[in-house]
Amino acid sequence: MNADIEWGSLPFGYYPTDYNLRCTFRDGKWGEIEVSQSETLNIHMAATSLHYSQEIFEGLKAFRGVDGKIRIFRMRDNAKRMQDSARGLLMEPIPTELFEEMCVRAVKLNERFIPPYGSGASLYIRPLEIGISPRIGVKRADEYLFVVLVTPVGPYFKGGFQNTNICIMREYDRVAPQGTGRWKVGGNYAASLAASHKAHEMGYSAVLFLDPKEKKYLDECGPANFYAIKDGKYITPKSDSILPSITNMSLMQLARDMGMEVEQRHITVDELESVSEAAACGTAAVCSPIGRIDDLNTGKKYQISKDGKPGPITTEFVRKLEGIRQGELPDTHGWITFVE
Ligand code: PLP
Ligand code: COI
Repeated sequence: MNADIEWGSLPFGYYPTDYNLRCTFRDGKWGEIEVSQSETLNIHMAATSLHYSQEIFEGLKAFRGVDGKIRIFRMRDNAKRMQDSARGLLMEPIPTELFEEMCVRAVKLNERFIPPYGSGASLYIRPLEIGISPRIGVKRADEYLFVVLVTPVGPYFKGGFQNTNICIMREYDRVAPQGTGRWKVGGNYAASLAASHKAHEMGYSAVLFLDPKEKKYLDECGPANFYAIKDGKYITPKSDSILPSITNMSLMQLARDMGMEVEQRHITVDELESVSEAAACGTAAVCSPIGRIDDLNTGKKYQISKDGKPGPITTEFVRKLEGIRQGELPDTHGWITFVE
């Protein structure tokens, strides 16, 4: 029996579910997986995650398909990225099998919270790793806790699939040029809060951050990558300070499948003059089409959408991506794991 939830109006937020899974790395090895019904963690007050931000996370989704089956999208890629993040902060990488087993079990145990097919909602899986050894000197922990929680979510940007406006703001960077932007580190999000808050207060849905070294090239769009369509080509920033988005990788593949050229390269702010579509893409955002981009420092306004509607290529991307995730289209690239 499904949980009694208004699936169609779910926000992107935390909604309690029945179980979460935990596993501790101690004495040089990962222990037994623990199934918990508690929503809290009991950790040492001097844990490295609390003081020195040894904290990394992931985000992926499970879907109920047209055939009633449960599918998780590109789980292995999230496992790999989390290992990269762990290495970036000298944390303990989580073995792929452990990551996958805990994600699958968390989905199964909370099956009644998987939104029904066609509701537009999905089950968001949030793996989290934290350093738990007490330290006062700035040192890595030698004990780590890995938690997988799940929560049903609706669209990340209010209103779902429709254009929103974003802004460029030069007085904040979320990451440093050779810093932690390429990893999914909690601190990056802390560093983005002030800029995002300011943007939201001005009515924008997100900040399009520029490369932190030269402030010349587009980097990424709040908690999502950025892409645009220019002369029929898919263009997306190449940068050391952005997160390698699994959604973006998938869109690049879909674009190639659709016969489009794909360019991963530096994109200057001026180039926004000549793009026909632009969007923020990510697990939470899916493809969120951009109407206009305002450069708050120069006063320039880049009107991307001419008719106020999401562009045809972005619309097609969403149809394809959602189709694969919900079993309406064949999974030709091996992106799906079925949860039996
Ligand atoms: N960039 C940032 C900063 C993010 O937080 C996310 C979300 O995970 C993305 C990009 C998109 O990545 P993915 O498509 O793997 O969810
Ligand atoms: C995601 O897309 O999974 C994200 O991580 C975005 C966010 C809510 C941090």
